[in-house]
Amino acid sequence: MLVAFCLLLFHTGTYGFGILPGKSLNHFEITENALLNTTVHVCRALALADGTAFTFPSQPYTAEAVAVSCNAPKSSKSFQQAITSVTLHNVRVDLRHALNASFHFDEEMFVQGKKIITEGIQAVKASNKQENFEAAREKLGEILHPLQDFYSHSNWVELGNKQPNPNLIRSDSSIGKIADKSRATCRNCNGDDCRNNILEDIINEGILTSGYFGIVPVVSTKPKGKCSHGGAVDQTSKIEPKGGINKDSFDASHGHLHSKAANMATAATSQLLEDIRGAAGDRPFLQMMGISKGSGKALCFVIDTTKSMSDDIEAVKAVTSSIIDSEAGTDDEPSFYILVPFNDPDFGPLIKTTDAKVFKNVINSLSVIGGGDEQEQSLSGLQLALSGAPVNSDIFLFTDAPAKDKVLKNTVIALIERTQTVVNFMITSSNVVNSRRRRETPKKISASDAQVYRDLAQASGGLAIEVTKSELPLATSIIQESTTSSLVTLLLTSRNSGNADKFFFLVDKTVSNLRVYITGLGLSCTVISPKGESKACTDTSGSLFTTSQSVGNFQNLKLKKEVGQWEMRMTSANPFTLKVMGETTIDFLFDFVEESDGPFKGFDALDTRPKAGVNGTLLVTLLGLDTGTLTEVALVESAGTKEIVGVVEPQETGKFLVRVEQIPSEEFVVRVKGQDSASTIVFQRQSPTNFRASKVTIAADSNDVLVPGTLFSVSFTVKTDGPGGTFTIKATNNQKFHSEFPTSLLLETGKSTEGTVNLTAPLNTPSGTDVRLTIEAEAPGGLDTNYIVLRISVLNPITDFTPPVCQQLSLEADCPKDCTLDTWDLSVRVTDRDDGMGVERVSLKQGSGVMTTSLDPDNGNITLVSYNASCCSPNMELQVVDRVGNVGTCFFSSEEGVTSPVSMSTKVTYSVFLCLTMVLLEMYMSTVGVIQLSPPPTREGV
Ligand SMILES: *[C@@H]1O[C@H](CO)[C@@H](O)[C@H](O)[C@H]1NC(C)=O
Ligand SMILES: *[C@@H]1O[C@H](CO)[C@@H](O)[C@H](O)[C@H]1NC(C)=O
Ligand SMILES: *[C@@H]1O[C@H](CO)[C@@H](O)[C@H](O)[C@H]1NC(C)=O
Ligand SMILES: *[C@@H]1O[C@H](CO)[C@@H](O)[C@H](O)[C@H]1NC(C)=O
Ligand SMILES: *[C@@H]1O[C@H](CO)[C@@H](O)[C@H](O)[C@H]1NC(C)=O
Repeated sequence: MLVAFCLLLFHTGTYGFGILPGKSLNHFEITENALLNTTVHVCRALALADGTAFTFPSQPYTAEAVAVSCNAPKSSKSFQQAITSVTLHNVRVDLRHALNASFHFDEEMFVQGKKIITEGIQAVKASNKQENFEAAREKLGEILHPLQDFYSHSNWVELGNKQPNPNLIRSDSSIGKIADKSRATCRNCNGDDCRNNILEDIINEGILTSGYFGIVPVVSTKPKGKCSHGGAVDQTSKIEPKGGINKDSFDASHGHLHSKAANMATAATSQLLEDIRGAAGDRPFLQMMGISKGSGKALCFVIDTTKSMSDDIEAVKAVTSSIIDSEAGTDDEPSFYILVPFNDPDFGPLIKTTDAKVFKNVINSLSVIGGGDEQEQSLSGLQLALSGAPVNSDIFLFTDAPAKDKVLKNTVIALIERTQTVVNFMITSSNVVNSRRRRETPKKISASDAQVYRDLAQASGGLAIEVTKSELPLATSIIQESTTSSLVTLLLTSRNSGNADKFFFLVDKTVSNLRVYITGLGLSCTVISPKGESKACTDTSGSLFTTSQSVGNFQNLKLKKEVGQWEMRMTSANPFTLKVMGETTIDFLFDFVEESDGPFKGFDALDTRPKAGVNGTLLVTLLGLDTGTLTEVALVESAGTKEIVGVVEPQETGKFLVRVEQIPSEEFVVRVKGQDSASTIVFQRQSPTNFRASKVTIAADSNDVLVPGTLFSVSFTVKTDGPGGTFTIKATNNQKFHSEFPTSLLLETGKSTEGTVNLTAPLNTPSGTDVRLTIEAEAPGGLDTNYIVLRISVLNPITDFTPPVCQQLSLEADCPKDCTLDTWDLSVRVTDRDDGMGVERVSLKQGSGVMTTSLDPDNGNITLVSYNASCCSPNMELQVVDRVGNVGTCFFSSEEGVTSPVSMSTKVTYSVFLCLTMVLLEMYMSTVGVIQLSPPPTREGV
């Protein structure tokens, strides 16, 4: 069972986490290598198709080097994040499903293990099709685990196979001959003689078997004569037939085959990724990997569309146009554009596009609607945006009204914490002209109503900017600044009561475009540069600032570049927020992780708040500095001065495990300090998000897919280490799906209590819909809250498991000796099977000719392909994909007298070749979808 390849995700102690020569490979490394490799090949294919140059990064690949060779250097952070998400979800399987044999291909669970993989592939493809890339990554990680385990835990390698089993990722074919439950597969063995403990007849007949695994000898269910996993933890290997067959590491039972198994697992991972890539297409595949054109960031608006908002919407139109006009085509252009409108009672839908022109049109056609202007569904709109925006986004919410749905406040905070998203509020008041007195009186939302927005801004590290409608255009420059890539937080703090206070931040030589944002009323501040130059924030004389702008409660300074420690002195009678940002590629990513208390050691990323008052662990990735190190990681109280400094343990290059003795009970931020190897750069960064810990723990798992129209149950457990009592339970989801759950649970201190959320999706819900279910538990009096944020994929049952087929209609190839003198023509008909869902896409995989595709005018389910290429380019390969993502390839050649299409990734054979006359075909041709590849008229490979 278990833990293929390595029991520890992060071996602490002597092993470290590097890919050292002679060191065993684990799931983490196998997955990362395959992801990097496939991504490089996709980028290369796109570069070739675009006729642009491509340079392979040097080996071993890193996320940063691959992002650069993909011509998307600004995506290196989101690429790293995608890799981390896939690998953490892979490793999580060992922690969450340690003893479920199906997830590890133990106990001859071949059918069950394969089902997890093939269903998961369908879910990944469906999520990609709906552009729900984060859901795709998580599922991908989960199914790569059993895929990789197959090669370590089964006898595939011992059977003499040199290639991965292609049927492991296909629904329409058999995995192979599986040993009967009653058939003996192993003999007793000891020491070296265990290399040959699998019975000869099993090997000779090519029959699949795998090891049994159990951690408790008495409940071992190993049938007579079956193989065991082996190793010290596995108790079944101590009963006859003794010994094991796993290849998890060099010192495993079949450790002499570890390299073979690990290499085969890497190849199998690449094969699965190729299938996902084929179904998605190259650019969407890269998006799944976090690589996109532009800054890698999203421009995300959540906008109140009630009548009084017309001025605000005009300001949004202006700033959107300005951003798009000045950044289109540059590395600073947002990679995604998102809009969520809301009013009352409606909110949504979420509109997401990568196309600046489309977004401009969407924004320009936004109009206000009538209706009451009292209270709006602002938090529902925000919840939708938080569920749909990429992690680490900046969201801007525009409103002039209180939230009607304040009950969603904790849900919104949960999503903010889990996605590390920054939410900025642009709260406007209108100047109402009182006709009697001819005086303007601002119509403003009350302080208590504004407080909800201020709290959410503060939790997310965003700003609550309160201005009049006429001042709004002056405040929107912050939106443009937020879309810049490589923006990092140097300092973020807030104070609720106004006292005099000093704050320090460190500027290293890589940081440029320093900005200070302050919100708060009636405050005065002073900036002191590293050289000791001091200026009041309002004093623009001298060279300390290039800009100082103040509008409403918002103040914005641009500081000159000076390396060293800066100081801000703040005096205020009111609450205020201070945020210092800069641009640099040196940045960090982190997750709270939990050490497994199961039979296997490892770390699992949390979907909840970490535990308050006890020790805790963070996994930190340093970005933008190959040879750098972290010297300190601290949890710093957001509204105070208390700091808890952790112990930093370096892992694989750029990764650090940080253990803190006690997670604070107060709200905190994460601050890191570090330096490059030569100590010429000493840097400090901070998380923008504020985090909270909790004495309540909540656990739930949902690795299944949700089938529309059927009941989906999620069971969860809640426990508190604080005082017991009646806890309020709330379950919300971003899809407005009907749900049932207990509204309260009675908890005793230290004792787990169970509950269930029942969820039903309407029958018409499309496959690939991403459901984010938040389950919250609130202590009596709201004194403590925790939540779990789950992601569930919707998948309608699929009956089409076969890719489309190609039929050659005609081939005209009369090529002369000198191949440069002529061209050849081919026409092909592509259809999905009778029970298929139709052809989604036909693309040219190989060949430098011109391909044209069109739909058969009489039958929209038939795609006609015509191809013309130089005689010097005799081979062509089509990739054909149907609507549920079954991928096939067809090969044609001008050189073979009779060409036969073969499908490389399918076992389908094509026996029928229809030949229609060219005359008929030409009638059908249209110029829909011309793919022009740069056609050098030379023989390929010469
Ligand atoms: C790298 O990816 C390419 C294309 O997907 C594949 O052909 C090759 O086998 C992969 N290499 C490894 C070592 O997995
Ligand atoms: C193992 O996981 C599979 C897939 O989720 C599930 O169907 C099965 O019930 C689980 N088996 C056990 C023993 O929990
Ligand atoms: C964390 O606390 C637990 C429980 O008190 C303890 O068993 C464990 O050893 C501690 N871990 C570290 C790294 O200090
Ligand atoms: C969920 O559905 C099951 C099966 O219908 C039912 O027994 C259970 O009571 C439901 N739970 C809730 C919280 O509604
Ligand atoms: C494609 O085939 C399906 C099922 O046979 C049919 O329902 C659909 O109308 C066809 N589509 C077109 C565009 O002809």
